[in-house]
Amino acid sequence: MRVVVLAAGKGIRMKSKLPKVLHPICGKAMLLWVLDVAKLMSERVCIVLGYSADTVREILPPEIEVRIQQEQLGTAHAVMSAKDFIDPDDDVLILYGDMPLIKVETLRKVANQHKEDENDVTIVSTVMENATGYGRIVRDLKGNFVRIVEEADATDEEKMIREVNTGIYIFKGKQLLSALPKVNCNNAKGEYYLTDVVGMMSKVGVHKSDDWGQFMGINDKVQLAFAQRKKRFEILERLMLQGVTIIDPETTYVDADVEIGCDTILYPMTLLLGKTKIGEDCVIGPMARLENCLIGNRVRVISSDCVGATIEDDVSVGPFARLREGTVLKSGVKIGNFVEVKNSKIGSRSKAQHLAYLGDATVGEDVNVGAGTITCNFDGKRKNPTFIDDGAFVGSNCCLIAPLKIGKGAFIAAGSVITEDVPEWSLAIARCRQVVKPGWVIRKKEET
Ligand code: UD1
Ligand code: CA
Repeated sequence: MRVVVLAAGKGIRMKSKLPKVLHPICGKAMLLWVLDVAKLMSERVCIVLGYSADTVREILPPEIEVRIQQEQLGTAHAVMSAKDFIDPDDDVLILYGDMPLIKVETLRKVANQHKEDENDVTIVSTVMENATGYGRIVRDLKGNFVRIVEEADATDEEKMIREVNTGIYIFKGKQLLSALPKVNCNNAKGEYYLTDVVGMMSKVGVHKSDDWGQFMGINDKVQLAFAQRKKRFEILERLMLQGVTIIDPETTYVDADVEIGCDTILYPMTLLLGKTKIGEDCVIGPMARLENCLIGNRVRVISSDCVGATIEDDVSVGPFARLREGTVLKSGVKIGNFVEVKNSKIGSRSKAQHLAYLGDATVGEDVNVGAGTITCNFDGKRKNPTFIDDGAFVGSNCCLIAPLKIGKGAFIAAGSVITEDVPEWSLAIARCRQVVKPGWVIRKKEET
């Protein structure tokens, strides 16, 4: 079998600058969900593109073939654009780029029925509560298939029919190729209808599916949200069955490609996005957003925002920490409340527990960074590095003016503004000496 995916339409109802099929559903473009299923059905998959073809092409896996439909003159015309891809000796499955909920199990059933009944075409139909917008399946009194009528061409009586054409079909390649050139556009929309090809086949089968949800085409952002919700719960269910504990699926958002080890607990209001990978026995959330993070085992991340961070085993992050791109936390590190880390590597067991900023820093092992201490990494023009060697102790409220090196075991007194390198095992103190004037307050009062 070969698969042709139609995706040349513009998707006007999305009211978006982004081509419709590129809208993400749980972090993955709508179209890629369809192509995943298509690839399970066949090694030969071809997509018909038109509107914004170049933008869409950029995300396609290399094995997908592309044909261009310059003008969108109808579904039959779209298939015609891929006619050199269609093999007369092969079956052709027609899918749509905006039907991301379609399931491979369903398509396999259709393929089996198509083979067993030796149909020229097998249509997939389903019953919809509200059939508006769909082509209807017209049957005779005995219930045999008669034809498909498009809504625009349907009589009032036909519009009452709730069995609809999903638009998915399997054709015999040869029959499809010989019928396509005969399709005309003498209809209400003036389009070349693929449904007219069905009318030209002698042996038509209908596969009536009872799960209408998976045939929903995404036309607007309401339907996009519906699809997202469905996919989200599928992802969460898969993870739970793999041993991940999810306290509240209603408020947990996990993207399609995220991996999570067993016995990790996800607390409510947690978002795991992009290519995030989490090990076993971690506690994530409540209120954590992790995007493209690599996380080891037994890590805790509470009420924090982390993007592009690599976190090793037994690390604790938050509450209220922000980890930005290029953060590496080695095992046993503790990053506490109101600490921001950017493009910095923090060595094993080092701690910055409160109100600190570490940017462009390389911090050794067993370092203590006190409350309120910051790396002053930006001089207005350049980002400058800070090196803090193993075992150093940086007291509270220090400004470390980069570029700067603090040696092994050095001790930086609280409140210091450090502008010069500090050698190993030394004390650096850079603040005004305290002045005490005894009785000054009383004298001041007597004066006034
Ligand atoms: C089509 C079916 C209808 C079915 C419905 C299911 C026809 C004539 N009608 O109607 O019976 O109930 O789908 O959703 O086939 N496309 C192209 N090039 C074109 C036209 C369309 O690539 O020239 C693509 C669109 O991007 C879209 C899909 O084909 O993904 C369906 O096209 P659309 O115009 O929405 O067809 P419907 O009118 O919904
Ligand atoms: Ca449609």
